[in-house]
Order: sequence, then structure tokens, then C-alpha cells
Amino acid sequence: MEFRKKLIAGNWKMNGVGDALEEVAKLSAAHPDPTCEILICPPATLLALMSALPVGRTIATGGQDCHREQAGAHTGDISAEMLADAGARFVILGHSERRANHGETDDDVHAKARTAIAAGLKVVICVGETLAEREAGNTLEIIAGQLAGSVPDLVTGANLVVAYEPVWAIGTGKVASLEQIGEVHNFIRLNLEKHLGAGVGRSTRILYGGSVKAGNAADIFGVSNVDGALVGGASLKAADFSPIITALEAAN
Ligand code: 13P
Repeated sequence: MEFRKKLIAGNWKMNGVGDALEEVAKLSAAHPDPTCEILICPPATLLALMSALPVGRTIATGGQDCHREQAGAHTGDISAEMLADAGARFVILGHSERRANHGETDDDVHAKARTAIAAGLKVVICVGETLAEREAGNTLEIIAGQLAGSVPDLVTGANLVVAYEPVWAIGTGKVASLEQIGEVHNFIRLNLEKHLGAGVGRSTRILYGGSVKAGNAADIFGVSNVDGALVGGASLKAADFSPIITALEAAN
């Protein structure tokens, strides 16, 4: 099997002003020599400040979205180049909140991923089914469609991360069962191998996201093909995020 360095990512969503940077300093102090990659995606207003902190060796930063075009008349939007210029190394794309609240389509995510990779960013492409889709038995079909539509074929195992985030598990306290997570992660791995080739498929990291907390992280990280997590609420405070990082470091 290809080597996949584990990745723990915090998505701060629309949370955090200047004093939240203290949490990053605390996190860095708690994990001076992490064996996994640590990523925080703060709101855009904090990105340059966070990237300039003297913790860059251990904590990478990322954006939460970027525009599909490189530049232009798009008031309020942020380009991939701007994220990279502010110190970001990653960008989250196609989060279900963007898909639901901003009408983002797979085609948008595909275009954004191409633009982000051209700007030198690694992309964290989110996929996941709604509760209605799961109850209708369509989960794997939905995931396959999102992967086919959202992931450009120019990706490599080094610049693609896929995050499986069941929409019904985000911010709800409802976690997918270990069986559900295992089924979808194995499916994503096979799908990537089939469509992008064995090399890319095996070296792409697949993260689980949706109500990951200190109390459930170790079990989730024990599931095959789970290479880390994309954490929302529990990434905002170092005291909550740190034990999740420790659980990932301890996982095989
Ligand atoms: P929660 O961890 O708050 O459920 O959020 C998950 C998520 O959406 C991360 O992108």
C-alpha cells in the first residue's frame, strides 16, 4: 500500500476573530512534533494572520472555499491565488454547507479544484449524502456521482484529499456508524483507484467528517481507509481538538 500521511483538519466555518489565534498557539504547544499533518481552515479574515504565526512547521492553514475563476469582477469572493498568497496550502471545496447555502454544483467544485491546483493548493473535496438519500438507499450512487462530477482528472495523490461528510452527521451530534463509515470509505478508495488509477487512488487521503469528537475519534480512526478527519465544532478550541489529534497519532 502506498504511504498516506494521516491528516487532521479543522474547519472553523464562520467562527473566530483575532483572539482565536491563541487556540492555535496552544495547539502547537501541545503537539510540538506531530506524527500526522495538522491543518486549520480559519475564516478568510484570519488566514494571513494565522499563516504568519511561528507554528507553520507543525500547523498548515487552508481556505474554506475559492472562486472558480482566477480573478475578476466577483465582489466578495476570494481567489485561489489570494489564499495561496495569504499562506494557505489547502482549500476545502464543495462542503455541503456551500452546496446547500450557495447552490454549488459538482461542476463548480470541479472548476474550483482545477483553479486551486493551478495556484499550487491541495484540495479537500467534500462529498456526502443527505438523510433522505441514505434512507432511499442511494448513498453510494450519490457519492459516486459527486466524485465523478467534482474531482478533476489532473489530481495526484499529493494534491487531492477527499472528505466523506454525511450531511445528516454535520453539527448534529449524530455520527455515522463505524460500518457506514467503513463501507463508504472503502467505496471511495475503490472508486478513486478505478477512475484515477491505482497510484492516485491508493495515495489519496480520505477523511471522515461529521460530529467527530474526542470521545468517538479513536473508534473512527480504527476503520479501514480512514486517513484522518475533517472536524468542525470540536476544532475551535485546542482543548477539544488536541485529544482528537492524539487519537489520530495513536491509530495504526
Ligand atoms: P462538525 O464536526 O461540527 O459536525 O462539522 C463537520 C464539518 O462540517 C467539517 O467540515
